[in-house]
Amino acid sequence: MVALSVKPLFTILVVSLALLLAIILLSPSSPFSQISLPFNSPLKSDIWTVRRIVEWRPCKWWLQGDLTALPVETNGYIRVDCYGGLNQMRRDLCDGVGIARLLNATLVLPKFEVAAYWNESSGFADVFDVEYFIRQMNGFVKVVKELPSEIASKEPFRVDCSKRRGQFDYIESVLPSLLEHNYISITPAMSQRRDRYPLYAKAALCQACYSALRLTRSLKKKASELLEAIPKPFLSLHLRFEPDMVAYSRCEYSALSSASINAIEAARGDRKPWTGELARIWRKRGRCPLTPNETALILQALSIPTNTNIYLAAGDGLMELEGLTSVYTNVVTKSSLLTGEDFTSMHGNTKAALDYHVSINSDSYVATYFGNMDKMVAAMRALKGLYKTLFLSRRAFAEFTSQGFRGKDLMQALWKAHRDDYVLGRGSALPDCFCEFTL
Ligand SMILES: *[C@@H]1O[C@H](CO)[C@@H](O)[C@H](O)[C@H]1NC(C)=O
Ligand SMILES: *[C@@H]1O[C@H](CO)[C@@H](O)[C@H](O)[C@H]1NC(C)=O
Ligand SMILES: *[C@@H]1O[C@H](CO)[C@@H](O)[C@H](O)[C@H]1NC(C)=O
Repeated sequence: MVALSVKPLFTILVVSLALLLAIILLSPSSPFSQISLPFNSPLKSDIWTVRRIVEWRPCKWWLQGDLTALPVETNGYIRVDCYGGLNQMRRDLCDGVGIARLLNATLVLPKFEVAAYWNESSGFADVFDVEYFIRQMNGFVKVVKELPSEIASKEPFRVDCSKRRGQFDYIESVLPSLLEHNYISITPAMSQRRDRYPLYAKAALCQACYSALRLTRSLKKKASELLEAIPKPFLSLHLRFEPDMVAYSRCEYSALSSASINAIEAARGDRKPWTGELARIWRKRGRCPLTPNETALILQALSIPTNTNIYLAAGDGLMELEGLTSVYTNVVTKSSLLTGEDFTSMHGNTKAALDYHVSINSDSYVATYFGNMDKMVAAMRALKGLYKTLFLSRRAFAEFTSQGFRGKDLMQALWKAHRDDYVLGRGSALPDCFCEFTL
């Protein structure tokens, strides 16, 4: 018996040593790949091979924490009303779940509102799997599909917190309404002091946001079909350069086509662009969306090869796209890969769900902005252990170009700024449910 067990042990040892050696030799952070190469050398490895020292992981109090038992008595029923784009609604839903738990309330299925901008009608159940949501929230917060009969016919009393700012305390300002009316609807405030929540309320928020939402079966099927059609490996790029986005930013750009200029003008309304010194300060603060052209330049500075397969996670309204596609030639979009009627009849929020699904499953994810989708995708990727996630720095780009950096110097400066972000895990997850972990 003893002799028999020694042999496998020895084999395991030899195999482990061989594996270790292979890992050391092949590892991107091995001494062999640290030999510095001339900047534009095709051998220079891309940003993802840089060794990270900080990583964001789900906080322990969420995943492993003891759940405080749910209150026996409910303080009332809360429906979360969500507006805007898919990821904005999702963010509000997460906050609303945290609030419901904070107030010891029972959650009714959320309402996802028709938003004029998206022109569509996807309710919560059209995008997310209701049964799964209820199951996953078990123990975190009470959720009901049907209201008790005595209030089922009532419209909830509406408490709109969305415009409230600053130190906003839900127990102080919402609990009285809940106790009085027994059934309320809320739209969470933009800014709130989640850090003051008891851990069980924070855990409910995290669970709702990152572990309880999965696409409906039919939407998932479409999204998987899309994912399958994308050449691998691939980078998902969330580019934002639509007319309304640019108009809203109040930034001015030179060298745009007249079609783009007209589209921006049409979207401007009374938001005139800043001029002179104000425009310069605004840009240096990183307020100006990156053009596709600038994006291509930064991707090159990060040594991302120009033959990389890129999935463009964006709507159809992007301007000046040639600035990117003339450099990065393998770019695909959902409209180029899906053509069936079931796709063309899809609306904004369900199409946004496709981009979301692809982006949380791509080999790498790069965003030119730090919006609701980017925050959500980054967090989901961190949850899945996909760390090739990066937000391009509008501020660094503006800073360096205003200092007169050009050509190789600009590329080198951009590389350094983004490398530092990546090494330190900056922006790769939100601190709401994720904690820093030093590698
Ligand atoms: C919720 O219930 C917990 C005990 O389960 C209690 O400590 C807390 O004060 C309650 N909060 C509210 C707002 O009722
Ligand atoms: C919104 O949808 C309606 C009906 O589906 C359509 O007639 C209208 O043109 C759409 N509006 C926009 C701005 O797309
Ligand atoms: C794109 O960038 C190049 C150099 O960076 C510049 O010469 C060109 O005018 C830009 N094109 C547009 C449309 O911005």
